[in-house]
Amino acid sequence: MEAKKGIQGKVVAITGASSGIGEAIAILLAAHGAKVVLGARRKDKLEQLAEKITQSGGAVTYMEMNVKSREDVTGLVALAEQQFGKMDVLINNAGIAQLSRVEDLDVAGWEEMIDINLKGVLYGIAAALPVFKQQGFGHIINIISVAGIKIVPLMGVYAGTKNAVRTISEALRQESDGRWRVTGISPGFVQTPFSDHITNESMKTAIQQKAEEIAIPAEAIAHAVVYAMEQPDSVDVGDIVVRPAKQD
Ligand SMILES: NC(=O)c1ccc[n+]([C@@H]2O[C@H](COP(=O)([O-])OP(=O)(O)OC[C@H]3O[C@@H](n4cnc5c(N)ncnc54)[C@H](OP(=O)(O)O)[C@@H]3O)[C@@H](O)[C@H]2O)c1
Repeated sequence: MEAKKGIQGKVVAITGASSGIGEAIAILLAAHGAKVVLGARRKDKLEQLAEKITQSGGAVTYMEMNVKSREDVTGLVALAEQQFGKMDVLINNAGIAQLSRVEDLDVAGWEEMIDINLKGVLYGIAAALPVFKQQGFGHIINIISVAGIKIVPLMGVYAGTKNAVRTISEALRQESDGRWRVTGISPGFVQTPFSDHITNESMKTAIQQKAEEIAIPAEAIAHAVVYAMEQPDSVDVGDIVVRPAKQD
């Protein structure tokens, strides 16, 4: 694949890069000439992905990190700067879903989603903004979810964490006054191992069946990232929704 204007040479840090959407974004951006900085908890997966990108001629580094830790998220951004001298884009992609009825009171699941899906993104913003201010440019891309647009039972708290990110992103965009760009990408059903981690077995089975029927490849989300990134600095792509043509 050829280097692409608006992508080539950009330094992009990605959380949750060891799997699914994050992995697909890393592969596509590296193929277009971006320098990618990968973060996730599973170091072996990151190592394998970095090897694959290197073998294809891409520029990559990685770090084992947990978005629950502010120090780790700050460390990922610092790695981008140390290794490649700047950070053009931070992609807050790491996320999990524990789906159940609110009345089931899965408080541990709620806390996990708030810590990863919401606080993890805030830690990313906190790490990136000082760098963006110093550089005079930057771009935050948050991977949100269609679950926050079409509200359905059993996804209330998950959707809540995603919509908190949507709301905060819009304020951040308005506050930027052109100093940085903010994009939210909301995927529908995507073919990834995302539902493997759902502990509610009936919900896991239902989601997996639906995904088997209609889910789209993770590359579809990566292409939306490319579109948002390749626009001129004066153009902010706000919200993009990418879902299967067959999704309700
Ligand atoms: N798949 C879908 O249908 C779908 C739809 C809408 C939105 N999304 C969103 O898309 C994003 C990516 O999900 P996916 O579908 O690609 O699922 P996935 O394949 O399960 O990937 C999730 C990624 O997040 C990482 N992660 C999870 N907890 C983490 C933590 N505490 N610290 C650091 N990294 C962590 C995982 O890596 P480690 O386990 O190695 O840490 C993994 O790389 C999520 O935000 C999800 O909410 C997915």
